Amino acid sequence: MGFMDDIKKAGKELSRSLKDIKSAPFVKEMCRTTANMYRLGWDERNGGNISYLLNENEVAEYLDLNKVIRFIPLMGVNAAEFDVTPLTGKIFIVTGTGKYFKNVEDDPETNLGIVRIVKGGAELLWGYKDGGRTTSELPAHLMCHMARLKADPENRVVMHSHPTNTLAMNYVHELDEKKFTHTLWEMCTECIAVFPDGVGILPWMLCGTDSIGVATAKKMEEFRLVIWAMHGIYGAGRTMDETFGLIETVEKAAQIYMLTAHLPRVNTIKDEDMVKLAELFGLKYRKDFLNL
Ligand code: 13P
Ligand code: ZN
Repeated sequence: MGFMDDIKKAGKELSRSLKDIKSAPFVKEMCRTTANMYRLGWDERNGGNISYLLNENEVAEYLDLNKVIRFIPLMGVNAAEFDVTPLTGKIFIVTGTGKYFKNVEDDPETNLGIVRIVKGGAELLWGYKDGGRTTSELPAHLMCHMARLKADPENRVVMHSHPTNTLAMNYVHELDEKKFTHTLWEMCTECIAVFPDGVGILPWMLCGTDSIGVATAKKMEEFRLVIWAMHGIYGAGRTMDETFGLIETVEKAAQIYMLTAHLPRVNTIKDEDMVKLAELFGLKYRKDFLNL
C-alpha cells in the first residue's frame, strides 16, 4: 500500500471514530439559545447573532480539524488593517448571516458554522451547508472577544440581539450611560447584582462595519453590556447562560420601565438600598452611576 493510501485509510478511521456533531453540547446550546431568543421576540427575521469560542480539543472529538471546507473572507473591514492576531487559530461556532434564529434548531448545519480564525477571514470546518457565511457582525464580535478576553481570560460568548423593550426604551430615555444604567438598576432589585458594571451605550452607527466594531470593543473594555442605540444590544460572558442572563435582565428591567414610565412613580428603589445590596454581595459596582 502506498503513502497516499495510508493517509486515506487514516482519514477514514478518524472520521469513523468522530462523534456526531449535532449531539455536541455546544451545538445543542446554540440551538436552545437561538430558539429561546426567538420565542422571547428578541430576534425577528435574521436579527441577532452569536459567537461562541470553543475548546479545540472538544471540537476535535467531532470534527477532523485538518479538513477545511472553504475560506470565508471577513466582510465590512479592511482585511489588511484588521488585526485578529490574538484570535488566530481559535475556533468559534457562529450564527450565519441572513439566517433566522427560529430555524436554527431544525437545521443547525445550514444556519450555524464552525470556523477557525485565520488572517483575513475564517476557515469553515462545519456548517453553512447552503454556501452561507458568518454573521455580517463577525468583525464586531471578534473585536469584542479580543477586548473581553483581555478583561477576563475566561470570556467565551458574544451575543447580539434586538430585545423589544430595551429598544423601546432607547426612544424615550436619555442615552446617557449613567442615567440609563441607573434607571435599569431601579427597575428590579437584583439588577445591580447582575450587571454591577452597568451598561455602555453607543450612539446610532452603521452596523456591519469595522468602526462600530472598534467602538463596541472599546466599550467592552469596561462593560459586558453595550447598547447600540435604536438597534439592539451586545452582551459578553463566560458562558451562554451568563451572557443570555445579562441581556434577559436588562430586557426585564426595560420592560418594567416601559410599563411604568408614563405612570406617576409612587415608590422606587433608593440608591442607599442598592448600596446595601451591592455590599451584601461584595460587588465591585459603578459607584459613580449612583447619586449618593
Ligand atoms: P446577520 O444576519 O448578518 O447576523 O445580521 C443580523 C443583525 O442583527 C445585524 O445587526
Ligand atoms: Zn442587529
